[in-house]
Amino acid sequence: MKIKSIKQLKNLKGQKVLVRVDFNVPLTKDRKVGKSEDYRIVKTIPTIEFLVKKGAKVILMAHLGRPDGKIIEDLRLGPVARRLSQLLKKKVLKSREILGAETDKLIAGMKNGDVLLLENVRFDAREEKADKSFAKQLAGLADIFVNDGFAVSHRDQASVSTVQNYLPSYAGLLLEQEIFNLDKVLRKPKKPLTVIIGGAKISTKMKVIRNFLPVAKHILLGGALANTVLEVMGVSVGKSLVEPKMFAEVKKIKLTDNQMIVPVDGVMAANYESKTGRLGALGKIKDSEVILDIGPDTIKLYENIIAKSKMVVWNGPMGLIETPAFAKGTMAMIKFLAKGKGETIVGGGETVQMIRKMNLEKKFDFISTGGGAMLEFLEGKKLPGIIKLIK
Ligand code: ADP
Ligand code: 3PG
Ligand code: MG
Repeated sequence: MKIKSIKQLKNLKGQKVLVRVDFNVPLTKDRKVGKSEDYRIVKTIPTIEFLVKKGAKVILMAHLGRPDGKIIEDLRLGPVARRLSQLLKKKVLKSREILGAETDKLIAGMKNGDVLLLENVRFDAREEKADKSFAKQLAGLADIFVNDGFAVSHRDQASVSTVQNYLPSYAGLLLEQEIFNLDKVLRKPKKPLTVIIGGAKISTKMKVIRNFLPVAKHILLGGALANTVLEVMGVSVGKSLVEPKMFAEVKKIKLTDNQMIVPVDGVMAANYESKTGRLGALGKIKDSEVILDIGPDTIKLYENIIAKSKMVVWNGPMGLIETPAFAKGTMAMIKFLAKGKGETIVGGGETVQMIRKMNLEKKFDFISTGGGAMLEFLEGKKLPGIIKLIK
Protein backbone atom coordinates (compact mmCIF):
# COMPACT_ATOMS: atom_id res chain seq x y z
CA MET A 1 0.00 0.00 0.00
CA LYS A 2 1.58 3.30 -1.12
CA ILE A 3 0.51 6.43 0.67
CA LYS A 4 1.05 10.17 0.41
CA SER A 5 3.70 10.95 3.00
CA ILE A 6 4.93 14.18 4.58
CA LYS A 7 8.40 13.08 3.48
CA GLN A 8 7.41 14.20 -0.04
CA LEU A 9 6.74 17.76 1.11
CA LYS A 10 9.49 20.12 0.07
CA ASN A 11 8.81 23.66 1.12
CA LEU A 12 7.26 23.71 4.57
CA LYS A 13 8.87 26.86 5.87
CA GLY A 14 6.21 29.15 7.33
CA GLN A 15 3.42 26.77 6.26
CA LYS A 16 0.66 26.12 8.77
CA VAL A 17 0.30 22.37 9.15
CA LEU A 18 -2.75 20.98 10.91
CA VAL A 19 -1.88 17.58 12.39
CA ARG A 20 -4.41 15.09 13.79
CA VAL A 21 -2.74 13.01 16.48
CA ASP A 22 -4.06 10.43 18.93
CA PHE A 23 -3.16 11.54 22.44
CA ASN A 24 -5.98 9.54 23.98
CA VAL A 25 -4.00 8.29 26.99
CA PRO A 26 -5.17 7.42 30.49
CA LEU A 27 -4.57 10.16 33.08
CA THR A 28 -3.64 9.49 36.70
CA LYS A 29 -5.92 10.60 39.58
CA ASP A 30 -3.98 13.85 39.90
CA ARG A 31 -4.47 14.43 36.17
CA LYS A 32 -1.01 13.64 34.87
CA VAL A 33 0.03 11.44 31.98
CA GLY A 34 1.38 8.26 33.63
CA LYS A 35 4.95 7.13 32.91
CA SER A 36 4.20 3.93 31.06
CA GLU A 37 1.12 5.43 29.46
CA ASP A 38 2.56 8.13 27.22
CA TYR A 39 3.33 5.72 24.37
CA ARG A 40 1.01 7.39 21.88
CA ILE A 41 2.58 10.79 22.57
CA VAL A 42 6.12 9.41 22.38
CA LYS A 43 5.43 7.80 19.01
CA THR A 44 4.20 11.08 17.49
CA ILE A 45 7.36 13.02 18.38
CA PRO A 46 9.25 12.20 15.13
CA THR A 47 6.46 13.70 13.01
CA ILE A 48 6.27 16.85 15.10
CA GLU A 49 10.06 17.23 15.11
CA PHE A 50 10.19 16.66 11.35
CA LEU A 51 7.73 19.52 10.81
CA VAL A 52 9.41 21.78 13.37
CA LYS A 53 12.82 21.28 11.74
CA LYS A 54 11.36 22.23 8.36
CA GLY A 55 10.13 25.50 9.85
CA ALA A 56 6.41 24.71 9.71
CA LYS A 57 3.88 26.09 12.20
CA VAL A 58 2.48 22.95 13.75
CA ILE A 59 -1.15 23.00 14.91
CA LEU A 60 -2.11 19.78 16.70
CA MET A 61 -5.63 18.40 17.09
CA ALA A 62 -6.41 15.59 19.51
CA HIS A 63 -9.22 14.08 21.58
CA LEU A 64 -9.29 12.73 25.11
CA GLY A 65 -11.98 10.32 26.27
CA ARG A 66 -15.58 10.58 25.17
CA PRO A 67 -16.93 13.98 26.31
CA ASP A 68 -19.90 13.61 23.96
CA GLY A 69 -19.80 17.09 22.49
CA LYS A 70 -19.66 18.92 25.83
CA ILE A 71 -16.85 20.67 27.69
CA ILE A 72 -15.71 18.37 30.49
CA GLU A 73 -13.06 20.05 32.65
CA ASP A 74 -11.33 16.75 33.46
CA LEU A 75 -10.90 16.01 29.78
CA ARG A 76 -9.05 19.19 28.87
CA LEU A 77 -5.71 18.59 27.15
CA GLY A 78 -3.51 20.61 29.55
CA PRO A 79 -1.75 17.55 31.05
CA VAL A 80 -1.11 16.17 27.58
CA ALA A 81 0.41 19.48 26.43
CA ARG A 82 2.74 19.43 29.45
CA ARG A 83 3.90 15.87 28.75
CA LEU A 84 4.36 16.70 25.08
CA SER A 85 6.43 19.73 25.98
CA GLN A 86 8.71 17.56 28.19
CA LEU A 87 9.16 15.01 25.42
CA LEU A 88 9.84 17.62 22.74
CA LYS A 89 12.06 19.62 25.14
CA LYS A 90 10.28 22.65 23.77
CA LYS A 91 7.47 25.00 24.69
CA VAL A 92 4.05 23.87 23.50
CA LEU A 93 1.36 26.52 23.09
CA LYS A 94 -2.06 25.43 24.30
CA SER A 95 -5.46 26.87 23.43
CA ARG A 96 -8.38 26.37 25.81
CA GLU A 97 -10.74 26.19 22.86
CA ILE A 98 -10.88 24.45 19.48
CA LEU A 99 -12.00 27.34 17.30
CA GLY A 100 -12.40 30.99 18.27
CA ALA A 101 -10.65 34.20 19.20
CA GLU A 102 -8.03 32.58 21.47
CA THR A 103 -7.00 30.03 18.85
CA ASP A 104 -6.90 32.71 16.11
CA LYS A 105 -4.70 34.92 18.26
CA LEU A 106 -2.30 32.10 19.14
CA ILE A 107 -1.98 31.07 15.51
CA ALA A 108 -1.42 34.66 14.38
CA GLY A 109 1.46 34.90 16.87
CA MET A 110 3.13 31.61 15.88
CA LYS A 111 6.69 31.71 14.60
CA ASN A 112 8.14 29.11 12.26
CA GLY A 113 8.76 25.90 14.21
CA ASP A 114 6.22 26.69 16.95
CA VAL A 115 3.85 23.99 18.18
CA LEU A 116 0.27 24.63 19.28
CA LEU A 117 -2.19 22.11 20.74
CA LEU A 118 -5.89 22.89 20.33
CA GLU A 119 -8.45 21.88 22.98
CA ASN A 120 -10.11 18.42 22.92
CA VAL A 121 -11.84 18.28 19.52
CA ARG A 122 -14.61 16.14 20.96
CA PHE A 123 -15.82 19.08 23.07
CA ASP A 124 -17.65 20.08 19.89
CA ALA A 125 -20.58 17.78 19.06
CA ARG A 126 -19.90 18.24 15.35
CA GLU A 127 -16.60 16.31 15.57
CA GLU A 128 -18.09 12.84 15.96
CA LYS A 129 -20.81 13.64 13.42
CA ALA A 130 -18.14 14.18 10.76
CA ASP A 131 -19.78 17.59 10.22
CA LYS A 132 -18.67 19.27 7.02
CA SER A 133 -18.89 22.89 8.16
CA PHE A 134 -16.86 22.08 11.29
CA ALA A 135 -14.25 20.26 9.20
CA LYS A 136 -14.09 23.24 6.84
CA GLN A 137 -13.52 25.60 9.75
CA LEU A 138 -10.72 23.38 11.06
CA ALA A 139 -9.19 23.25 7.59
CA GLY A 140 -9.38 27.05 7.50
CA LEU A 141 -6.75 27.19 10.24
CA ALA A 142 -3.98 25.82 8.03
CA ASP A 143 -2.44 25.20 4.61
CA ILE A 144 -1.83 21.45 4.83
CA PHE A 145 -3.37 18.56 6.79
CA VAL A 146 -1.39 15.65 8.20
CA ASN A 147 -2.95 12.55 9.75
CA ASP A 148 -0.63 10.98 12.30
CA GLY A 149 -3.38 9.62 14.55
CA PHE A 150 -3.37 5.99 13.48
CA ALA A 151 -5.20 4.96 16.65
CA VAL A 152 -8.22 7.11 15.75
CA SER A 153 -8.14 6.46 11.99
CA HIS A 154 -11.02 3.96 12.22
CA ARG A 155 -13.31 6.85 13.20
CA ASP A 156 -15.09 8.75 10.45
CA GLN A 157 -14.91 12.09 12.24
CA ALA A 158 -14.42 15.74 11.28
CA SER A 159 -10.79 16.15 12.37
CA VAL A 160 -9.78 12.70 11.13
CA SER A 161 -11.41 12.13 7.74
CA THR A 162 -13.80 14.97 6.76
CA VAL A 163 -11.09 17.63 7.03
CA GLN A 164 -9.18 15.81 4.28
CA ASN A 165 -11.76 17.01 1.76
CA TYR A 166 -10.67 20.61 2.29
CA LEU A 167 -6.85 20.57 2.49
CA PRO A 168 -3.99 18.82 0.70
CA SER A 169 -3.55 15.83 3.02
CA TYR A 170 -0.61 13.60 3.90
CA ALA A 171 0.30 10.80 6.28
CA GLY A 172 2.62 11.52 9.20
CA LEU A 173 5.62 9.31 9.99
CA LEU A 174 3.81 7.26 12.65
CA LEU A 175 0.81 6.63 10.43
CA GLU A 176 3.12 5.54 7.67
CA GLN A 177 4.98 3.17 9.98
CA GLU A 178 1.74 1.64 11.29
CA ILE A 179 0.40 1.08 7.78
CA PHE A 180 3.68 -0.39 6.57
CA ASN A 181 3.93 -2.90 9.41
CA LEU A 182 0.29 -3.95 9.61
CA ASP A 183 -0.07 -4.14 5.85
CA LYS A 184 2.90 -6.51 5.80
CA VAL A 185 1.07 -8.77 8.22
CA LEU A 186 -1.94 -8.86 5.93
CA ARG A 187 -0.20 -9.10 2.59
CA LYS A 188 3.06 -10.90 3.07
CA PRO A 189 3.15 -12.54 6.47
CA LYS A 190 6.17 -14.67 7.23
CA LYS A 191 5.11 -18.28 7.61
CA PRO A 192 4.39 -20.11 9.78
CA LEU A 193 2.30 -17.26 11.19
CA THR A 194 0.84 -17.45 14.69
CA VAL A 195 -1.87 -15.06 15.85
CA ILE A 196 -2.51 -14.62 19.56
CA ILE A 197 -5.83 -13.11 20.55
CA GLY A 198 -6.75 -12.28 24.12
CA GLY A 199 -8.70 -9.66 25.99
CA ALA A 200 -12.22 -9.12 27.07
CA LYS A 201 -14.77 -9.91 24.39
CA ILE A 202 -14.74 -12.24 21.42
CA SER A 203 -17.38 -10.08 19.74
CA THR A 204 -14.82 -7.29 19.22
CA LYS A 205 -12.21 -9.66 17.78
CA MET A 206 -14.19 -12.24 15.82
CA LYS A 207 -13.69 -10.51 12.47
CA VAL A 208 -9.93 -10.42 12.97
CA ILE A 209 -9.92 -14.09 13.88
CA ARG A 210 -11.91 -14.91 10.76
CA ASN A 211 -9.63 -12.82 8.55
CA PHE A 212 -6.60 -14.77 9.78
CA LEU A 213 -8.12 -18.24 9.49
CA PRO A 214 -6.97 -18.74 5.88
CA VAL A 215 -3.37 -17.63 6.57
CA ALA A 216 -2.41 -18.37 10.16
CA LYS A 217 -1.01 -21.76 11.03
CA HIS A 218 -2.25 -21.29 14.59
CA ILE A 219 -4.57 -18.93 16.43
CA LEU A 220 -3.94 -19.04 20.17
CA LEU A 221 -6.71 -17.78 22.42
CA GLY A 222 -6.46 -16.39 25.93
CA GLY A 223 -8.18 -13.96 28.23
CA ALA A 224 -11.87 -13.78 28.93
CA LEU A 225 -12.74 -14.22 25.27
CA ALA A 226 -11.43 -17.79 25.28
CA ASN A 227 -14.24 -18.66 27.69
CA THR A 228 -16.91 -18.24 25.04
CA VAL A 229 -15.03 -20.66 22.76
CA LEU A 230 -14.44 -23.15 25.60
CA GLU A 231 -18.15 -23.07 26.43
CA VAL A 232 -19.03 -23.83 22.80
CA MET A 233 -16.55 -26.74 22.88
CA GLY A 234 -18.36 -28.12 25.89
CA VAL A 235 -15.63 -27.31 28.43
CA SER A 236 -17.13 -25.81 31.58
CA VAL A 237 -15.94 -22.31 32.47
CA GLY A 238 -17.77 -22.14 35.81
CA LYS A 239 -19.45 -18.80 36.27
CA SER A 240 -17.02 -16.91 34.01
CA LEU A 241 -18.84 -14.43 31.79
CA VAL A 242 -19.41 -15.66 28.24
CA GLU A 243 -21.09 -14.06 25.22
CA PRO A 244 -24.02 -16.29 24.25
CA LYS A 245 -24.84 -14.12 21.25
CA MET A 246 -21.51 -15.23 19.76
CA PHE A 247 -22.09 -18.99 20.14
CA ALA A 248 -23.51 -19.46 16.64
CA GLU A 249 -20.61 -17.67 15.00
CA VAL A 250 -17.99 -19.55 17.02
CA LYS A 251 -19.65 -22.85 16.02
CA LYS A 252 -19.01 -22.01 12.37
CA ILE A 253 -15.25 -22.18 12.94
CA LYS A 254 -13.68 -25.60 12.76
CA LEU A 255 -12.43 -26.09 16.28
CA THR A 256 -11.07 -29.57 15.82
CA ASP A 257 -8.25 -29.25 13.28
CA ASN A 258 -5.58 -27.96 15.67
CA GLN A 259 -5.50 -24.47 14.15
CA MET A 260 -7.47 -22.67 16.81
CA ILE A 261 -5.94 -23.45 20.20
CA VAL A 262 -7.63 -22.82 23.55
CA PRO A 263 -6.16 -22.91 27.06
CA VAL A 264 -5.79 -26.29 28.74
CA ASP A 265 -5.39 -24.95 32.26
CA GLY A 266 -5.99 -21.73 34.10
CA VAL A 267 -6.01 -19.74 37.29
CA MET A 268 -9.43 -19.97 38.94
CA ALA A 269 -10.82 -17.68 41.60
CA ALA A 270 -14.06 -17.05 43.49
CA ASN A 271 -14.92 -13.89 41.54
CA TYR A 272 -13.55 -11.00 39.48
CA GLU A 273 -12.56 -9.08 42.63
CA SER A 274 -10.40 -11.93 44.02
CA LYS A 275 -6.75 -11.13 44.72
CA THR A 276 -5.49 -14.72 44.52
CA GLY A 277 -6.48 -17.86 42.70
CA ARG A 278 -5.67 -21.54 42.36
CA LEU A 279 -4.11 -23.35 39.43
CA GLY A 280 -6.10 -26.08 37.79
CA ALA A 281 -6.85 -27.96 34.61
CA LEU A 282 -9.80 -26.72 32.63
CA GLY A 283 -12.56 -29.24 32.93
CA LYS A 284 -12.00 -29.35 36.68
CA ILE A 285 -13.34 -25.93 37.44
CA LYS A 286 -16.06 -25.59 40.10
CA ASP A 287 -19.41 -24.07 39.12
CA SER A 288 -18.78 -21.28 41.62
CA GLU A 289 -15.43 -20.20 40.10
CA VAL A 290 -14.24 -17.89 37.33
CA ILE A 291 -11.13 -18.27 35.12
CA LEU A 292 -8.83 -15.26 35.40
CA ASP A 293 -5.58 -16.27 33.69
CA ILE A 294 -3.97 -19.01 31.61
CA GLY A 295 -1.96 -21.62 33.53
CA PRO A 296 1.60 -23.03 33.13
CA ASP A 297 0.60 -25.91 30.82
CA THR A 298 -1.06 -23.47 28.44
CA ILE A 299 1.97 -21.20 28.58
CA LYS A 300 4.20 -24.19 27.64
CA LEU A 301 1.87 -25.22 24.85
CA TYR A 302 1.79 -21.68 23.44
CA GLU A 303 5.56 -21.23 23.79
CA ASN A 304 6.20 -24.40 21.76
CA ILE A 305 4.04 -23.10 18.95
CA ILE A 306 5.56 -19.61 19.07
CA ALA A 307 9.08 -21.05 18.97
CA LYS A 308 8.29 -22.60 15.58
CA SER A 309 6.71 -19.44 14.12
CA LYS A 310 8.41 -16.95 11.84
CA MET A 311 5.87 -14.24 12.62
CA VAL A 312 3.65 -13.64 15.64
CA VAL A 313 0.84 -11.11 15.79
CA TRP A 314 -0.64 -10.46 19.21
CA ASN A 315 -3.58 -8.42 20.48
CA GLY A 316 -5.10 -8.57 23.97
CA PRO A 317 -3.93 -9.87 27.37
CA MET A 318 -4.13 -13.49 28.50
CA GLY A 319 -5.75 -12.68 31.84
CA LEU A 320 -7.13 -10.07 34.20
CA ILE A 321 -3.82 -8.21 34.25
CA GLU A 322 -4.98 -5.36 36.48
CA THR A 323 -4.68 -7.84 39.40
CA PRO A 324 -1.02 -8.94 39.74
CA ALA A 325 -1.90 -12.57 40.56
CA PHE A 326 -3.61 -12.87 37.17
CA ALA A 327 -0.99 -11.05 35.09
CA LYS A 328 1.49 -13.95 35.10
CA GLY A 329 0.29 -15.56 31.88
CA THR A 330 0.54 -12.31 29.95
CA MET A 331 3.95 -11.55 31.45
CA ALA A 332 5.25 -15.01 30.58
CA MET A 333 4.13 -14.56 26.98
CA ILE A 334 5.79 -11.15 26.80
CA LYS A 335 9.07 -12.54 28.15
CA PHE A 336 9.02 -15.45 25.73
CA LEU A 337 8.21 -13.32 22.70
CA ALA A 338 10.86 -10.79 23.69
CA LYS A 339 13.64 -13.36 23.45
CA GLY A 340 12.32 -15.25 20.43
CA LYS A 341 13.60 -15.08 16.86
CA GLY A 342 10.34 -14.64 14.97
CA GLU A 343 9.07 -11.24 13.90
CA THR A 344 6.73 -9.87 16.58
CA ILE A 345 3.90 -7.41 16.06
CA VAL A 346 1.83 -6.41 19.06
CA GLY A 347 -1.02 -4.04 19.79
CA GLY A 348 -3.88 -3.23 22.12
CA GLY A 349 -3.79 -0.76 25.00
CA GLU A 350 -3.42 -3.10 27.97
CA THR A 351 -0.89 -5.43 26.40
CA VAL A 352 1.38 -2.60 25.30
CA GLN A 353 1.21 -0.97 28.73
CA MET A 354 2.43 -4.20 30.29
CA ILE A 355 5.30 -4.53 27.80
CA ARG A 356 6.42 -1.01 28.65
CA LYS A 357 6.17 -1.65 32.39
CA MET A 358 8.46 -4.64 31.88
CA ASN A 359 10.83 -2.48 29.88
CA LEU A 360 10.83 -4.88 26.95
CA GLU A 361 9.51 -2.54 24.32
CA LYS A 362 12.70 -2.63 22.25
CA LYS A 363 12.57 -6.41 22.00
CA PHE A 364 9.49 -6.32 19.80
CA ASP A 365 9.67 -5.64 16.07
CA PHE A 366 6.60 -3.45 16.02
CA ILE A 367 4.22 -2.17 18.66
CA SER A 368 1.06 -0.57 17.32
CA THR A 369 -0.45 2.48 18.99
CA GLY A 370 -3.86 1.30 17.82
CA GLY A 371 -6.49 -0.56 19.80
CA GLY A 372 -9.70 -0.57 17.78
CA ALA A 373 -7.86 0.86 14.77
CA MET A 374 -5.36 -2.01 14.72
CA LEU A 375 -8.17 -4.55 14.91
CA GLU A 376 -10.15 -2.92 12.10
CA PHE A 377 -7.02 -2.66 9.96
CA LEU A 378 -6.33 -6.35 10.54
CA GLU A 379 -9.92 -7.15 9.63
CA GLY A 380 -8.92 -5.91 6.19
CA LYS A 381 -11.06 -2.76 6.34
CA LYS A 382 -10.06 0.48 4.65
CA LEU A 383 -9.99 2.99 7.48
CA PRO A 384 -11.73 6.40 6.97
CA GLY A 385 -8.67 8.33 8.16
CA ILE A 386 -6.38 6.51 5.71
CA ILE A 387 -8.41 5.86 2.59
CA LYS A 388 -7.91 9.28 1.00
CA LEU A 389 -4.16 9.11 1.61
CA ILE A 390 -3.63 5.98 -0.47
CA LYS A 391 -1.90 6.71 -3.78
P1 ADP B 1 -6.65 -4.78 24.42
O1 ADP B 1 -7.02 -3.41 24.87
O2 ADP B 1 -5.25 -5.17 24.83
O3 ADP B 1 -6.90 -5.02 22.97
P2 ADP B 1 -9.17 -5.73 25.47
O4 ADP B 1 -9.59 -4.32 25.67
O5 ADP B 1 -9.94 -6.57 24.53
O6 ADP B 1 -7.61 -5.82 25.12
O7 ADP B 1 -9.23 -6.49 26.86
C1 ADP B 1 -8.44 -6.12 27.92
C2 ADP B 1 -9.13 -6.46 29.21
O8 ADP B 1 -9.49 -7.83 29.25
C3 ADP B 1 -8.23 -6.22 30.39
O9 ADP B 1 -8.78 -5.18 31.15
C4 ADP B 1 -8.25 -7.55 31.12
O10 ADP B 1 -8.35 -7.40 32.52
C5 ADP B 1 -9.48 -8.23 30.59
N1 ADP B 1 -9.36 -9.69 30.74
C6 ADP B 1 -8.49 -10.51 30.14
N2 ADP B 1 -8.66 -11.77 30.54
C7 ADP B 1 -9.65 -11.77 31.43
C8 ADP B 1 -10.31 -12.79 32.20
N3 ADP B 1 -9.93 -14.06 32.15
N4 ADP B 1 -11.33 -12.41 32.99
C9 ADP B 1 -11.71 -11.13 33.04
N5 ADP B 1 -11.14 -10.13 32.36
C10 ADP B 1 -10.12 -10.44 31.56
C1 3PG C 1 -8.67 4.72 21.07
O1 3PG C 1 -8.28 5.00 22.20
O2 3PG C 1 -8.84 3.55 20.67
C2 3PG C 1 -8.86 5.84 20.09
O3 3PG C 1 -8.33 7.03 20.58
C3 3PG C 1 -10.32 6.01 19.69
O4 3PG C 1 -11.10 6.36 20.79
P1 3PG C 1 -12.66 6.06 20.76
O5 3PG C 1 -12.82 4.57 20.86
O6 3PG C 1 -13.25 6.81 21.93
O7 3PG C 1 -13.22 6.56 19.45
MG1 MG D 1 -8.69 -2.31 25.67
